[in-house]
Amino acid sequence: DKNTLWSGRFSEATDAFVAQFSASEHFDRRLYREDIRGSKAHARMLAHQGVISQDDADAILEGLDAIAAEIEAGEFPWDPALEDVHMNIEARLTERIGEAGKRLHTGRSRNDQIATDIRLWLRTATDESIGLLRRFQAGLVDLAEREVDTIIPGFTHLQVAQPVSFGHHMMAWYEMLTRDEARLADARVRLNQMPLGSAALAGTTFNIDRGMTCEALAFDAPTRNSLDAVSDRDFAIEFASTAALVMTHLSRMAEELVLWASPLTGFIELPDRFCTGSSIMPQKKNPDVAELVRGKSARVHGALHTLLTLMKGQALAYNRDNQEDKEPLFDAADALRDSLRAFADMVPAMTVNRDRTRAAAREGFATATDLADYLVRKGVAFRDAHAIVGQAVAAGVASGRDLADMPLAELQGFSALIEADVYEVLTLEGSVAARDHFGGTAPAQVRARIAEARARLAED
Ligand code: ARG
Repeated sequence: DKNTLWSGRFSEATDAFVAQFSASEHFDRRLYREDIRGSKAHARMLAHQGVISQDDADAILEGLDAIAAEIEAGEFPWDPALEDVHMNIEARLTERIGEAGKRLHTGRSRNDQIATDIRLWLRTATDESIGLLRRFQAGLVDLAEREVDTIIPGFTHLQVAQPVSFGHHMMAWYEMLTRDEARLADARVRLNQMPLGSAALAGTTFNIDRGMTCEALAFDAPTRNSLDAVSDRDFAIEFASTAALVMTHLSRMAEELVLWASPLTGFIELPDRFCTGSSIMPQKKNPDVAELVRGKSARVHGALHTLLTLMKGQALAYNRDNQEDKEPLFDAADALRDSLRAFADMVPAMTVNRDRTRAAAREGFATATDLADYLVRKGVAFRDAHAIVGQAVAAGVASGRDLADMPLAELQGFSALIEADVYEVLTLEGSVAARDHFGGTAPAQVRARIAEARARLAED
């Protein structure tokens, strides 16, 4: 039996299927960098505290570096019989440096070791996602500035509602992402706590210095309760829940991109390099990247559900169930990173067909509210104005003309208060420019929001 790391009290070898069933090295080997980093910090601390000798620590540090090089070179003898990344590395260390390797695990358990490894790994993944979120936001701000004077129909119920600045629409996406970024940063605060020293569940009898390992691994503070530290996976759930929300946002953007790239609207042209063709229909150029991002949102939502259900009802402290946290967490982090990268690259590179977006806004009586507001300014109560304009729209629908295309005499038939200046409020540009308050779609307002966004993104 290869499992000499724990087999002392056993009288028979592990069942072959159970060995396979319980092995995790094929996916947790991904944590090797964090595992080695944590082990080095632990070994240095043990030597500093006189728990192991400095010579042993030196041999351990050198051995772990050599193992890292071996892994990176693809020459490490990964062995599923050694269960997980931790025992694979520890067994190899002892194979390479002998006796000293066996002292590394002093005052430590795989329970605090894995909790530390995942936190370190997820901290890097979180920082990477925050970086990509910011790059995407910067791209949206550039696009918003380019298209601030472009008119697009704003929709409710996917029916033409009111004209808006295309830049305003891009800045709406930007706002969603600023909240996502703040959520990731907030989750990182609770993530960045250091479990090492909690050992199996109760702490250790050795004179350890948790502050030292905490500092070496750049955590904010050591965890305050050993039972909690080895069993807490809140940080993974928080990451997955934030990732799920980011993906929900990206899936909404994806849906709009698909709609806008369709000849049904023809609002945008996606760069060829982000689209794919059909194996049968030679004319096709499909928005697969947007569709894949929309699809990957399902995986991330699934990962969140898996993690929540994994932890539900678990008694303290560590339970082996927790080994099941890694695949959904890795999958969520990968899908999030790749989706953010794809959109950060693709979205700012799209072309807006300004004539098409403008024409679509012209078609749907998008300035009907503006005519009602015009009548209100002339003293008509809003409800009455609404009814008057409704009749004008009905006439426009019947004759296939926009309100702006009706002669003044005809408009005056609906209300004698209508005068020649009405055509200023019936233009798309006039309609958009009139919504000139904080948060409104007037290009002047959008420009101000863009300037604020640029200043924010330039900070730290
Ligand atoms: N591989 C385990 C995990 O991923 C860590 C090892 C703890 N195993 C144990 N039998 N206590 O959670």
